[in-house]
Amino acid sequence: MISVFGSAIGEEEIAAATACLKSQWMGAGPIVEEFEHAFAARLQLPNFAMVNSGSNALYLAIKILDLPPGSEVILPSFTWIACAQAILLNGCVPVFADVDLHTHNITAGAIRPHITPRTAAIMVVHYAGKPVDLEPILALGFPVIEDAAHAVDSTWNGHACGSLADVGIFSFDAVKNLASPEAGGLTVRDPARFARARSLRYCGIEKSGFAAASTAAGRWWEYTIRDVAPKLLSNDLCAAVALAQLHKLDALQHRRREIWQRYQQELAPLDWLVTPANPASNERHSYFTYCLRLPHPGARDRFAKALYDNGIYTTLRYHPLHQNPIYNSKSVLPISDQLNEQALSIPIHPRLSDADVTHILNTIRATSPQAASTPA
Ligand SMILES: Cc1ncc(COP(=O)(O)O)c(C=O)c1O
Repeated sequence: MISVFGSAIGEEEIAAATACLKSQWMGAGPIVEEFEHAFAARLQLPNFAMVNSGSNALYLAIKILDLPPGSEVILPSFTWIACAQAILLNGCVPVFADVDLHTHNITAGAIRPHITPRTAAIMVVHYAGKPVDLEPILALGFPVIEDAAHAVDSTWNGHACGSLADVGIFSFDAVKNLASPEAGGLTVRDPARFARARSLRYCGIEKSGFAAASTAAGRWWEYTIRDVAPKLLSNDLCAAVALAQLHKLDALQHRRREIWQRYQQELAPLDWLVTPANPASNERHSYFTYCLRLPHPGARDRFAKALYDNGIYTTLRYHPLHQNPIYNSKSVLPISDQLNEQALSIPIHPRLSDADVTHILNTIRATSPQAASTPA
């Protein structure tokens, strides 16, 4: 079965992880710091704090904004659960907005109808790594959190996605463009908020005795706790793998781009499916997922089954959040609903061979318009 997502772990990652294990130190330490500096330097971020997941980076991103309890945060429905959970875990209310049918991204126009006196922030997601049109969203005047979980290599006007608003988060989970066993991180425009995010990572410890004046007093084991927070630290083992991936990110991205361009070119003649939006001339895309659309009623599910029967696994990222009863959402979001019926992500990742891509394309071509559009 050809998997829909995948990492490319090679000798470099194995050597880095082995060296870390042999050092007898795999907790948070010098390799986390090295990764933080290298990542910030590559993306030209003002700062970067590594944590143990993108989900927890989102939690911290909301926390450091200090929004009053019950504040509303507007976010796209067509995104991953962690986005809404981070809002709720901070005592705020997620308000779901629709996305654009072609880019799959939230827009200022989709946000406006959801603004109320309780709106306190906006969360955007650079879906698949296609940069969100942020300028009109920033002009709405709310703090903006950028979820760049898919967008590690995306830029807008030459600036890294994640660095364009108040807080940006990244994910380095096992299937992301920059993969590690489990990790994430955040960059924060305001230095005081960034310092708070760093101290929140470790149970809210502001200052450990090792660095504090109490060392002089002979009590280096004491610490000052400023906040209530869980332990969100990453570790050197994950950072070692992430660092090795960072060193080969250009090659990994090159392969993703090759596959994306082949799909775009060879699927364009098929008038029964709609290919995803390419990056605009001032954008760079990360090609995290290749999400196409089959507009004919019921066609998407039959198409997915046909691919599965030919050894190709597909999925839909994401099941729109407003449809989940747990969120008790009142939003009416026709485009997210439409994507839920019509959209499908086909495999794209650096471990796909040319033969895999050819097999995927041939299988899609063999799925005739009739098979894709009419019930069996
Ligand atoms: C858009 C988005 N945000 C946040 C996350 C959470 O990242 P993590 O899996 O590292 O917790 C994901 C994970 O897939 C995601 O797709």
